[in-house]
Amino acid sequence: MSETVLVTGGAGFIGRFVADELLARGNRVRVLDSLIEQVHGSDPAPPLNPEAELIRGDVRDKAAVSRALEGVDSVVHLAAEVGVGQSMYEVERYTSTNDVGTAVLFEALIQQPVRRVVTASSMSIYGEGLYRDAEGRLVEDAERKSLRDGQANWEPVDAAGRPLTPVATPEWKRPNLASIYALNKYVQERTTHIMAAPYGIEGVCLRLFNVYGPGQALSNPYTGVLAIFASRFLNGQQPLIFEDGEQRRDFVHVSDVARAFADALVLPQAAGGTFNIGSGNDRSVTEVATELARAMGKNDVAPEIVGKARVGDIRHCFCDTSLARDRLGFEARQDFGDGLAVLAEWVARQTAQDKVEQMRAELEARGLVA
Ligand code: UD1
Repeated sequence: MSETVLVTGGAGFIGRFVADELLARGNRVRVLDSLIEQVHGSDPAPPLNPEAELIRGDVRDKAAVSRALEGVDSVVHLAAEVGVGQSMYEVERYTSTNDVGTAVLFEALIQQPVRRVVTASSMSIYGEGLYRDAEGRLVEDAERKSLRDGQANWEPVDAAGRPLTPVATPEWKRPNLASIYALNKYVQERTTHIMAAPYGIEGVCLRLFNVYGPGQALSNPYTGVLAIFASRFLNGQQPLIFEDGEQRRDFVHVSDVARAFADALVLPQAAGGTFNIGSGNDRSVTEVATELARAMGKNDVAPEIVGKARVGDIRHCFCDTSLARDRLGFEARQDFGDGLAVLAEWVARQTAQDKVEQMRAELEARGLVA
């Protein structure tokens, strides 16, 4: 199928890969992106595929969105503010871009409907992932009560204080919206499904796990632990590891995520669905710091274990990939070690302004690191 696809936020890290993938599959791509400074720096020309048409504009701007939708067959909606920690104090900015932006898009789609919209959601909507208790029962509402009580036990426990074992998180786990960003992402999901069907549009949402790869904004300290660590190593500084580093995530390569979007845009069986997109492998933050140090030749730079949690952070959440595999035939292909090697090569060619200390100061000033 060859279509004209609008990619909102298409000049960003994930959007550029999505644009490349869609172009490689024979589509025409139009990008609507406001090129915000926190992500793009002061460079006015993002490294966007020259075959993509770029409209610089804000997703909240009705006129810009209507213009961007002219002649479009389908939409990938990625435009969003993406820092979980930052969402806890820039509440208005996040809610405006993420929720109102999605509302503006769908209102414009009433006049200019398309075949399908695929919206980027996030594993953040789960809060803590799924756990199993000592009796083998699944626990959907695990919480870290100890953090609230100021104890240094990072692991969630059951009501009787017994340890829980994390397991892969499937789509059916009840959302536990613990940050404004998570709330925004859930609103985007629901807006997509609520608004698509009545207007004859097919809505699809992808819940992305921890996406990494070359091109992730190195100077944006609010998003993506691998980009943050890479930027620290590049500047010869120790990465800061929150908690004890044993928290587990699923790191999925941006090229796999781009394939997932391109598939979700066309596969008939994706219509109306919400799918986890991850690699199916879980790793601790310490493990990825060690592997990245090796890939970047920085074995001598030991990370600093901060021993404090970022407020709103969850302990473990990693991806149950079975629905995407069974329904969409989707499987991540990128080997993690190879992915890190490519990331390391790319990072070595960049100059990253290290804003991690500034981020720490901003979070600490607001009491957001416990
Ligand atoms: C969060 C969101 C996710 C979102 C992503 C990027 C949750 C559960 N998930 O993921 O949906 O797409 O942010 O915005 O809210 N860490 C360090 N040192 C650092 C930075 C991070 O140790 O300098 C740790 C964090 O404490 C966390 C892990 O690394 O335990 C991953 O952090 P991050 O990359 O920010 O992503 P998540 O919080 O998992």
